[in-house]
Amino acid sequence: MARRKIVAGNWKMNMTPSQAVELCATLKDLVVSDEVDVVYCVPAIDIIPVVEAVKGTNVAVGAENMYFEAKGAYTGEISAEMLVDAGVKYVIIGHSERRDYFKECDCLLNKKVKKALEAGLVPILCCGESLEQREMGVTMDWIRLQIKSDLVGVTADQVKGMVIAYEPIWAIGTGKTATTEQAEEVCKGIRECIAEMYDTDTAEAVRIQYGGSVSASNAAELFAQPNIDGGLVGGASLKADFGKIVNYK
Ligand code: PGA
Repeated sequence: MARRKIVAGNWKMNMTPSQAVELCATLKDLVVSDEVDVVYCVPAIDIIPVVEAVKGTNVAVGAENMYFEAKGAYTGEISAEMLVDAGVKYVIIGHSERRDYFKECDCLLNKKVKKALEAGLVPILCCGESLEQREMGVTMDWIRLQIKSDLVGVTADQVKGMVIAYEPIWAIGTGKTATTEQAEEVCKGIRECIAEMYDTDTAEAVRIQYGGSVSASNAAELFAQPNIDGGLVGGASLKADFGKIVNYK
C-alpha cells in the first residue's frame, strides 16, 4: 500500500497568537489537498487559537515539544495529556534545535516518544547529522544510533503509525538543501534500519520526511523520491509558499 505524504510546518519560536490566527487564514485555501496530510506544528501558546482557526479544514495541529511525565512539579513543561485535550494530534520530538540548545539526549527523547504514543499522539521523531559527521563519513552510523536509541521499547505497531523526519543539521535554516540523492539515501537507510529492528511491513508503513530548507522550488523533486514521504518545513511554513509545498505536484 502506498504511503500517504505528510507535509508539516515547524513554526519554531515564531508567530504570536494573533499572528498565528492570521497565518491560518492566509494559508486556509492554499493548503487544501486530498492527497497530503497537512500539519502545523506551532508554539505552545498558539495551540488553542490555531486548533480553533483550523476547525473544519484539512489541517491538523502539532506541538513542537512535550514532557514525558503525566503531571506534577515540572515548572514550564507541558504534558501529552494536555496536548491531546487541547486538540493536538502530532508532536515533534528531538528536533536538532532541542537536542543542541536544550541538551535533550536520546534517553530523554525515548521517554517522550513512548509517552506521546501512549497518549495517542503521533510523534514526528527528528534525526540528522552535523556537517562534521557528514564529512567524517559517519552519517548513517549516527542516524542509526539515534533511531535505535529513541525507539527502545516501542512496538512495531506503534512505529507503523509514526513519522520520522530526517533533517541534516547543516541544511536547517541555511538555504542549503541536501541534494535529492543525499536525502533519499539517508531516508532509505532509515527505512532499512527500521526493517532490521522490526520487519519489512513496519519499514514499509512508517512515514519518513525530509527537512532542511524545503522550499516551493525543491519540494517536488524531493517528495518524488521513493523513500521520502513528505517534508518538515521551517522557514517556508510561515508564508504562502507553504501551500505550494503541500501542492507540490
Ligand atoms: P528550515 O527548517 O525549513 O527552515 O530549514 C526545517 C526544520 O528545522 O524543521
